[in-house]
Amino acid sequence: MTTNVTHLECSQCGTRFEAGLAHNLCTACNSPLLVRYDLDRVRESWSRDSLATASSNMWRYAPVLPVADPAHVVTLGEGWTPMLRTPNLAKRLGASNLWVKDEGLNPTGSFKARGLACAISMCRELGITSVAIPSAGNAGGACATYAAAAGIESHVFMPRDVPHSNFVECCAVGAKVTLVDGLISDCGRIVAERKAAEGWFEISTLKEPYRIEGKKTMGYEVAEQFGWDLPDAILYPAGGGVGLIGMWKAFDELEAMGWLISGSKRPKMIAVQAEGCQPVVEAWKAGKDRVEFFKNAATVASGLRVPKPLGDALMIRAMRETGGTAIGISDADMLDGALECAQTEGIFAAPEGGACVAAVRQLLASGYLKPEERIVIFNTGTGLKYMEAFSTRFARVAGAEADKLGGLITPR
Ligand SMILES: Cc1ncc(COP(=O)(O)O)c(C=O)c1O
Ligand SMILES: [Zn+2]
Repeated sequence: MTTNVTHLECSQCGTRFEAGLAHNLCTACNSPLLVRYDLDRVRESWSRDSLATASSNMWRYAPVLPVADPAHVVTLGEGWTPMLRTPNLAKRLGASNLWVKDEGLNPTGSFKARGLACAISMCRELGITSVAIPSAGNAGGACATYAAAAGIESHVFMPRDVPHSNFVECCAVGAKVTLVDGLISDCGRIVAERKAAEGWFEISTLKEPYRIEGKKTMGYEVAEQFGWDLPDAILYPAGGGVGLIGMWKAFDELEAMGWLISGSKRPKMIAVQAEGCQPVVEAWKAGKDRVEFFKNAATVASGLRVPKPLGDALMIRAMRETGGTAIGISDADMLDGALECAQTEGIFAAPEGGACVAAVRQLLASGYLKPEERIVIFNTGTGLKYMEAFSTRFARVAGAEADKLGGLITPR
């Protein structure tokens, strides 16, 4: 049993909390907690070179993850996803150094696997046997999947109109699924109201401190895959913003450990949202630190349908400290972006990833991004999970009676 965690710390008021216990938000000010490590000790006991023989998943970074006992790790091989150089797409967009970090290859088809693998592993370590999660879709699927692998009961609350794949995957792995007439914010309210009576541990975005630790491994991977010299810009499709905050935390930790090559600058952290739900873009444009609830949120990028992210202040701080920005993309442009990525590079991106493709084009046109900069797009999920959205572009018409059952001969 070993862990380098020293304590947890409130991201807003700095109150300290003891490690090794179940936590939700800061009890003093209701803000998200961040896990803190003894990075001096980590530096002495771990080296970049040792990664050459480390496991090919996110647990290669175990010394900066919170699970103390390796026997508690629940893994399906998440993380260590490819950083794909995309010259064809780059040429079309007018960039010369473009990569796609393809998170669609994770178990459950999205980057949510990282956060939930870590959170569920910590549930196992802390003896938690029943969890509840409000989700825009992919987090619910990942939660249900890792809970199944861990033998933990899971309760998933999702909007009724989530992609069908998200609903089916939760049911398939045995979660108790509730479809809610509303958005993730309504699902969150239901979980918060019922959790005490039901005995559920709540693992809503940033309301428990370990999902972000799993997600931060994306930042470690970007650094390692770029030879510890960070790229110039990272485009991230931000809903709750956990990945963006997590990567920013990873870069802080890497800097404190002295792992980045000298002179390596922080990438511009760019939050990409959907025009139909862009609370962070609006706050950013208004120069505010906190977002307003975004009314009537609607977008095919279901993961971006988060009208009031809890991590707004942290996201905006990360963008400000790195010279980043925020941009909203229309649904049509994000589907075009995903298909452009698919057709030029063979990477069938989720609409969320497609939004980043469109954002690169727009930010190059505005002069914010420079053609020679090293740009990384996060494709956070596979397009295969979004059949309803992409079917608007590729409607299938049954040709004949025999086609209706996939070519089987039907009784006449
Ligand atoms: C495919 C996809 N991309 C991006 C996001 C947004 O993630 P985050 O909460 O880290 O901003 C989600 C969230 O559900 C998602 O499913
Ligand atoms: Zn606090």
